[in-house]
Amino acid sequence: MTSHQPERDIDSSLHEDRVFEPPAAASVGSAPWHVGSLTEYEAEHERSVKDPAGYWGMVARRLRWMGPYERVLEGQFPDARWFTGGRLNACDNCVDRFVDEGYGDETAIVWEGEPELSGGGSGAPEVRRLTYKDLQEQTARLGNALKKLGAKKGDVVTIYMGMVPELVIAMLACARIGCPHSVIFGGFSSQAIADRVVDANSRIILTCDGAWRRGKVVPLKDNVDKAIEMMGGQSPVEHVLCFGRCHNDIAWGSPDRCWQEEMAAASDDCPCEPMDAEDMLFLLYTSGSTGKPKGIVHTTAGYLLYTAHTARLVFNLVPDAGQLYWCTADCGWITGHSYIVYGILQNRVPTLMYEGAPNFPAEDRFWDIVERHKVTHFYTAPTAIRAFMKWGEEHPRGHDLSSLQVLGTVGEPINPAAWMWYREVIGGGSSGKQPCPIVDTYWQTETGGHAITPLPGATPTRPGSCTRPFFGIDAAVVHADGSECEPDKGGLMVIRKPWPGMLRGVYGDRERFIETYFSTVMIDGKPVYTAGDGARRDRDGNFWIMGRIDDVINVSGHRLGTMEVESALVAHEAVVEAAVVGVPHEIKGTGIAAFVTLAKGHAPSESLKRELGEHVAQTIGAIARPDQVRFAEALPKTRSGKIMRRLLRDVAAGVDGQQDTSTLEDFTVLAKLRENDE
Ligand code: WTA
Repeated sequence: MTSHQPERDIDSSLHEDRVFEPPAAASVGSAPWHVGSLTEYEAEHERSVKDPAGYWGMVARRLRWMGPYERVLEGQFPDARWFTGGRLNACDNCVDRFVDEGYGDETAIVWEGEPELSGGGSGAPEVRRLTYKDLQEQTARLGNALKKLGAKKGDVVTIYMGMVPELVIAMLACARIGCPHSVIFGGFSSQAIADRVVDANSRIILTCDGAWRRGKVVPLKDNVDKAIEMMGGQSPVEHVLCFGRCHNDIAWGSPDRCWQEEMAAASDDCPCEPMDAEDMLFLLYTSGSTGKPKGIVHTTAGYLLYTAHTARLVFNLVPDAGQLYWCTADCGWITGHSYIVYGILQNRVPTLMYEGAPNFPAEDRFWDIVERHKVTHFYTAPTAIRAFMKWGEEHPRGHDLSSLQVLGTVGEPINPAAWMWYREVIGGGSSGKQPCPIVDTYWQTETGGHAITPLPGATPTRPGSCTRPFFGIDAAVVHADGSECEPDKGGLMVIRKPWPGMLRGVYGDRERFIETYFSTVMIDGKPVYTAGDGARRDRDGNFWIMGRIDDVINVSGHRLGTMEVESALVAHEAVVEAAVVGVPHEIKGTGIAAFVTLAKGHAPSESLKRELGEHVAQTIGAIARPDQVRFAEALPKTRSGKIMRRLLRDVAAGVDGQQDTSTLEDFTVLAKLRENDE
C-alpha cells in the first residue's frame, strides 16, 4: 500500500461540532425503534464483540435453515467460516419462506419504469408490483430455464441487465438453483464484460435487449455480443438469455435464447437447492489498486444474516408497519445486492426499484416517486444529494415528502453541507417537523453490509461522521504497527475480528486476497482486515472516514482503480504513458484527472482530449471518463522512477477543468522542487 494523502480532504468536518440527538420513534413513524438508546447500543456492541459466536448464534435464529449448523464461527482471519455445516437457501429466505408463512400475496417489489409513455402516452408512469408468490413462480421458472441450458450447482452465471424486476428475479433464480451470480453494472463496456466473464469462466449470460436511460436505449445485448466477439476463442459463453424490455433491434445469433419464451415453456416447480452455509452466493467484481477488477466472493449464510440484520437495525425495518423502502443504487453494485435485494426482502418490507435517471423527464422525478408511492425509507449517495442541491430546492419542495421516516447515505464521505441539506430539505427539518434521522453508512463490497453506521433511534449523529461500528464490528483506527491512533489523529481503518458478512476471498486469486486485505497491519502477530481507507476517531468514539489511501478513486460513489484508467489510456495509439489521479469535484466528490505523454506524430489538441475521454468510456464505461485530460512533456518522476502522484494531484486540483489548455505542460521544475517531499 502506498502512503498517499487521503484522496479527499474533508477538513471542514474536522471541526464539525453539531450533534443531533436521535428522534423519538413516534415523531417519525409508527414503528418503535429496534434499538432505542445509546446505552442499549453500547451494551449490545460490547457483548457482540466479546462473544461473536453467542451474539450471531442468537441472531441466526431469524434465518430459515434447511439443516442445522455445527458451529457459529470457525477459524480466524483470513479464513473465518460461519455456521459451518448448516444448510439453507438464499431465495428461500427472501421469497419462499414468506409464501409458506402466509404472506404470499403481499408486495415484495414495487417497480417503476423510466418512460412515462404507457397508458397511451398519458404520461402515467409504468408501475409493476410483484408479490412473494410472483417471485416464487418466476424464480422457479427461470431456475428451470437455466437448468435446461445446462446450469449446474456451482456454475457462475453472469447477469448484465437494466433495473427491471427481472434482474432481481435473475439473481434470486441463480440462488435458488445454487449457481453463484456475477452481476455486471449495465453502464460497463463490452471490454469490462469480457474481462469478468473470462475470469469467472461463466457459460451463461442473462441480459436485456436494452435499458432505458434518460429516454434513450442503452444497447445491453449489443454490448454482450461485442464482448463475446472480443473474447474470441477464449469465450466460455454458450448461452445468452435475453429479456425483451425496450424492443430495440438486436442481432440474434446461435447462443441467443428469448427469456419470455423460455419462461413460458418452463415448469414453475423448482425447489430451492439446499446450500452449504459457506457455498458461494455470488461474485461481484470491484476495483482495487492494481490490475484488473477482482471478483469478491460472498457466501450464503453469513452474508444473508449480516445483510438482514444490518438492514433491520440500521433502517429500522418492521414488516406490516406500512413501510416502503427505496434504495436508488443499481443492482450492479454491492449496495443494490445487499440493500435492494437480499437485506430488504429478508425483512419482508417491500423494496422499490426505479429503472431510470433522477432527472428524467424532470429534476423532480425522485420526489415525485417518493410522493406517489409514499416511500418511508430513502437510501442514496452523497453525489446524488449534491446534484439535488444544485438542481434547486424547488423540486423537493414541490412534493409532499412527509411519508419519509429514515434517510440513508452510502458510497463516499458526505460533506456537512450536503448532510444538512438532506436533513432540512428532504428530511423535513425546515418545515418545523421533527427531521428524519440520517444514517451515514460506511461499508464496502468486501464487508458485505454496513460496517460503521448510526442506528436511527440510538446514535447521536454529526454531519460528516458515520459514527459507530455496527454490532459485531471491532473497528479501529491504527498506525501501520497496529497500535491505536490517539483520538482525532488520522490512521488506517481496520476491523480486528471476523464478522459474518466479510468477503471470503478474491475469486481465483488467494494471494491477492491475503496481500490486499490481510498483510498491511498485524496485531499481536496476527493479521487484521485493512479496509484501504484513512480515518480518524474523535473523542466521543465517532469515526470520520477520510477517503481511500490506495490507488482507488471514488467517483460519484463508484470505485475505480487509477491503474484501470491508465491501462485504458495507454492502449490508445496516441498515448505513451499515463498517470491518473483523483481531483476534488463539486458533484462527484472525486473526479478523474489524466496526465498523458504522447507518441511521436501526435500533437496535443482539444479533439484528442475528447477522443481519449471517449476511448476510456468505451473501454471501461462512462463513469470512468476523465474530467480532465492533460498533456505533459514527461510525467514527473522521482529519481527511483516513481510517478510523483501527489504533485499531479496538486496540479490537477489547482485548475478548473474548463480552463486548462491543450498545450504540453512541463513538470520538470516542479518535480525537482518536490522530489524531496515524496
Ligand atoms: C467509500 C460501497 C465514507 C470508502 C458500499 C469505501 C464511504 C468505498 C462510505 C467502498 C461512507 C463507502 N463514508 N466513505 N458512508 N461508504 N465509502 O466497495 O472509501 O463500492 O472503502 O462499496 O467507498 O466502495 P464500494
